[in-house]
Amino acid sequence: MSSRFAFLSEAGMDRSSLIKGLQLVQKKEGFISDEAISAVAGHFAMSEAEVEGVVSFYAQFKRNKPGKYQLSVCDGTACHIKGSSLIQEWISMELGIRPGETDTDALFSLETVACLGCCSLAPVMSINGKVFGKLDRKGTIKILKDYRKNG
Ligand code: FES
Repeated sequence: MSSRFAFLSEAGMDRSSLIKGLQLVQKKEGFISDEAISAVAGHFAMSEAEVEGVVSFYAQFKRNKPGKYQLSVCDGTACHIKGSSLIQEWISMELGIRPGETDTDALFSLETVACLGCCSLAPVMSINGKVFGKLDRKGTIKILKDYRKNG
């Protein structure tokens, strides 16, 4: 195993610690790369297909390198009623990505999440944890353009 993944020893060698090992990888690298799948498989003496299966089963694991800005559109009840699916569609059209994807410049990653805890501002999204509320089409696109301008 390459020394890049030496930290896997923190999880021990037992297969029951597979999830813990994957969580360590994601914490250190931000996502689970092909190299990580192969290193984890080697570490726990499993096949890559088995590891891949577990990774795809749990939504907490990301297979794609995250963009610089993590864009989370709230789809909790309050936001849903106030049109969060439209917000997500507008963002998808503007950036050319669907939830779970990262744009080609690796600038934005898009996901939908459950309640962000500020329902009175619905519909809401957050970018790297900063919350933007009472979104409409114009406001949403402007926020994206501002982030893009600042790189
Ligand atoms: S439902 Fe969106 S912030 Fe609560």
